[in-house]
Amino acid sequence: MTTRINPSILAADFVNLESELARIASADLVHVDVMDNHFVPNLTFGPQMVGRLQDVSPIPLDVHLMISDVDRWAPGYAELGAYSVTFHAEATDEPVRLARRLREIGARAGIALKPGTDAAPYLDLLPEFDQVLVMTVEPGFGGQSFMRETMPKLSRVADAVRAAGLDVWLQVDGGISLDTIGIAAEAGADTFVAGSAVFGAEVPAERIAALRDLAATHRHGAQPGTGSLKS
Ligand code: DX5
Ligand code: ZN
Repeated sequence: MTTRINPSILAADFVNLESELARIASADLVHVDVMDNHFVPNLTFGPQMVGRLQDVSPIPLDVHLMISDVDRWAPGYAELGAYSVTFHAEATDEPVRLARRLREIGARAGIALKPGTDAAPYLDLLPEFDQVLVMTVEPGFGGQSFMRETMPKLSRVADAVRAAGLDVWLQVDGGISLDTIGIAAEAGADTFVAGSAVFGAEVPAERIAALRDLAATHRHGAQPGTGSLKS
């Protein structure tokens, strides 16, 4: 089982994004937070900017859409070459149709759940997705505190993925740091978004390595003290 660390460029220096991307080249994917000041009370960037990031990034793009009207906008991010496109369950009435469209274009399809959104209605739909993002803060801003109360939901999704024998990545996003990554790993996450924890470090590559080690040691099913995995 693989542990993935996806730094969020929301915490990067926006006028130097190309060099900021170079500092995180040892990460797995770069997490790109698209916000529309409608679905969330914050505004970042749109398709044109993400297209340029796609052109220059040394690692694939993991696009997190915190926008309304995803049925209209999400396919465009897949078309510009994003490796994964994650939309919020709360932003569409037809998540399966949209996921199928994203996969057809060639992206991995992700569904994100806000802290207050129940996972139950989506568990039967898991084969339709490549990734489930369990938000560990209210979406909209970096630098918030990890919400531990979201962990039972993460475990429920992890159990359902295992029971169905699926290869669906489980992502957490918000407040992931050296102090909290182990908690999320134990609950079943395998893909970890970290903004301030990575870009706030003097040497982001070292922080990425430290987060990766901690996550691997705490991975669900890891043998205590060894960091090795049972499954
Ligand atoms: C929040 C975004 C996150 C954010 C995480 O709505 O989705 O990706 O960048 O930032 P940190 O890691 O600082 O909590
Ligand atoms: Zn995000």
